[in-house]
Amino acid sequence: MTDAAQNPPRDALVHITDIHFWEIVRNPLQLLNKRFLGNLNVILRRRRAFDTSHAAAFADALAATGVRVLFAGGDFTSTATDGEFRQAAAFLENLAARGMQIIIIPGNHDVYTFESVRKRRFERHLGAFLPEAGYPCRITLPGGTPMVLAPTVCPNWLSSRGRIADADVDRVARLIAEAPPGPLIVGSHYPVLHATEGYASGPMRRLRNADALRRALVDAAAQRPILFLSGHVHRFSDQPDPEAPRLRHCTTPALFHRHRQGGIAGAFSEIHVGQEDFLVRPHTLRDDT
Ligand SMILES: [Fe+2]
Ligand SMILES: [Fe+2]
Repeated sequence: MTDAAQNPPRDALVHITDIHFWEIVRNPLQLLNKRFLGNLNVILRRRRAFDTSHAAAFADALAATGVRVLFAGGDFTSTATDGEFRQAAAFLENLAARGMQIIIIPGNHDVYTFESVRKRRFERHLGAFLPEAGYPCRITLPGGTPMVLAPTVCPNWLSSRGRIADADVDRVARLIAEAPPGPLIVGSHYPVLHATEGYASGPMRRLRNADALRRALVDAAAQRPILFLSGHVHRFSDQPDPEAPRLRHCTTPALFHRHRQGGIAGAFSEIHVGQEDFLVRPHTLRDDT
């Protein structure tokens, strides 16, 4: 039995990610960029695969866990429009009104076009939930667990690639090193492993400089247990790093992602932090949620 299962957890949080609120853009002026491709994807695929009409029911299910800290790992939107961000803000406000502490980071779809970055849409719509220090930063969960938030996204002309600068890898490493001892969580949109038993990321969907970030995490895990929580791949995965058993990589599926075989309408993870390790419990949400 794990330590987290034996002892009362010092902290608990739910991890939701890749919410992908969507709207179909009809104004041709808004389609003169990468959004043309993203909009096509919404029309052909996302509006069926991501049934966001469950949003209120899912908020009920998240609140029903009894966990009062929620980490939302990015990709709130599909093509970073004002309308999609408004849906995301309403969803997070609903959860906050139920007493949940909300922690967020952006995903690549939240900086989908250069124009959306220039207009600071993510910051304007979700500013109430952003950490004061910006990214990267370290926050402390109510039970004392340190959590470091890593910035991994950038706009691209065509690909879905992320980026973390060397300077930010150094800052993440310093934030971890300076944290009080004990288990620590790192939150990121992109995973740093390109393939696990749960997923395989193509070269156009990976994090640039992932190896540098992973190296920093492997080094830090010599001192303490680290849970690296990410999304982006829309699959559940939970495994130790091949080089560092105390570094655990966990990805959570998209919140509203409909399973092809039907029945499953979404998923999230519930995490309990023990004195020396973590308990990760995947949840699936059924159509009748
Ligand atoms: Fe996503
Ligand atoms: Fe993503």
